[in-house]
Amino acid sequence: MFRTDFVWGVASSAYQIEGRDPADGAGRNIWDAFVDAGKIQREENAYTACDVIHRYPEDYALMRLLGIKHYHFSISWARILPEGTGEVNEEGIRFYRDMISCMKKNGVEPYVTLYHWDMPETLMHRGGWLSPDSPDWFAEYAAVVADRFSDLVKYFITISEPECEIMLGHCTGENAPGLKLSLTDALLATHHLLMAHGKAVLALRGHARHPISVGYAATCGVAIPATSSEEDVEAARKTYFSIDTESERWAWNVSWFLDPVIFGTYPADGLKAFAPHMPEIKEEDMKLIRQPLDFMCHHIYNGYYVAADEDGDVIRLEEKPGATHTDADWPVTPAALYWGARFLSEKYHLPLYITENGVACHDSISSDGRVHDPNRISFLDNYIGALQKASDDGADIRGYFVWSFLDNFEWVSGYSRRYGLVYVDFVSQLRIVKDSAYWYQKVMETNGRSLTVNQKARQILFLEQDEGGDVSVASWITEGAYAGMTLDELLHRAPELFGGVMQPPGRTEMITLEIEGEASFLQDQTYLYITVSMGDGLLNGHYIRRGDHFILPMGFGVVEIQGNLTLLVSARVILEASKETN
Ligand code: FCB
Repeated sequence: MFRTDFVWGVASSAYQIEGRDPADGAGRNIWDAFVDAGKIQREENAYTACDVIHRYPEDYALMRLLGIKHYHFSISWARILPEGTGEVNEEGIRFYRDMISCMKKNGVEPYVTLYHWDMPETLMHRGGWLSPDSPDWFAEYAAVVADRFSDLVKYFITISEPECEIMLGHCTGENAPGLKLSLTDALLATHHLLMAHGKAVLALRGHARHPISVGYAATCGVAIPATSSEEDVEAARKTYFSIDTESERWAWNVSWFLDPVIFGTYPADGLKAFAPHMPEIKEEDMKLIRQPLDFMCHHIYNGYYVAADEDGDVIRLEEKPGATHTDADWPVTPAALYWGARFLSEKYHLPLYITENGVACHDSISSDGRVHDPNRISFLDNYIGALQKASDDGADIRGYFVWSFLDNFEWVSGYSRRYGLVYVDFVSQLRIVKDSAYWYQKVMETNGRSLTVNQKARQILFLEQDEGGDVSVASWITEGAYAGMTLDELLHRAPELFGGVMQPPGRTEMITLEIEGEASFLQDQTYLYITVSMGDGLLNGHYIRRGDHFILPMGFGVVEIQGNLTLLVSARVILEASKETN
């Protein structure tokens, strides 16, 4: 289970939701330039986005009504310092102070990120992260933020996803500022970015008027072990933390962006591989980068599977046919949250917050006027369930934030990818609370106890059919959450499924149940062990036919059967129940 003080929240970033107002005094940033250059799908822009600058009172009221008590968002650098350094935009300060005060009045605790990819345009013209002055620019901004907001905000995060900033913004050019730097230059920009983090931590602490907590938010796809064997787990850990030097995608890496920040060193494998491209690094740079942090944040969306081969070498596995993908075509891999949280916690030993996780779904308004998003619920349910397991297995997880509260401007994809718990009509700015928001409300309220992982299993567990029609208790379970286990293992590992009274089928009385057409009954006492001896039909949506063997675990709930079937059932309880309904 999660800690009793576990932090549940939602997340967003400034550029994706705020919008602009001619009178707001804010400067332009690199995304404004990217938008104006027509780099966004369908030439969309974020001039209005979710219009949060005008609508935050309603949005925070909505958070309150939905029981949301923690909000991770970013501040726009150019709204505070229009030129990036120098003159402060008092209108911007006033706006954020009002906004944060309103948030707090609604019982929502702010977690403020200083930088989520939106460098002031002027600073880009002065060289951006390639300039050796960039750490000082960022420190100046951090000092203003601490000075003006630390009476309202306790939790600060310096930089969000430096990997994306470097890889997408400076290497592939997919994101603003759209650069395609050489490896040498990209490593220099990265070094400055990391120094900027260090200087910002010092500036935040130096200028805060009240005690604050400071963190840093990295991201990366997680290497997931194909099995829980020691070899596969080690293969995954190694892959997750080492640098893919063969790949153009070198910056998708945890260690390059976290080791300097937490240990004060770049990882040795990268230093070796990048030696010809490395900038000059002074000892004091590394000291600066390594500032004590109060917590670490990580954004986890997905992962990929790896295994160890016979020689112990790592192999990256292909996706299985039919693997689920999100509307953004990202793989759905809940185990990423389990392994990511565990690996990070084991390596870095800092309290860990998952400050982004969520899913783009094909959401639309139904004819009842509501937005039903069962895929998001199932995604979050599985992912958060996996996170709980990591916590149970010792990872020091302190909080979790869903990306995102509102549907928003998803960078180059514009408005086509909806991540929100709340639907936004980008024409009228109408908000519609999606089913997933109500579902998440319950999760927060119960500190995760309402997650499926904490419920009794309600899946039908199919057993292997053997040729003679007999099923031994050692048969493999071939479907459902327990696939791959034998009945014996299941009884051992999850005795609650059987109410603790599992009897091998041979030892219990088998009762014949004839179904013609339809039958339904409530099975909530003990498990049922069923063999289909005649006919075929549907049982709670599963096709069943002669020769199938399966279990309905304890507390399965309502059993609905259609078809002409003869079932052999092993538990007396159901016979009584079925008599009532037949
Ligand atoms: C993360 C970004 C966030 C949003 C989500 C979907 O990588 O930090 O702004 O784009 O992906």
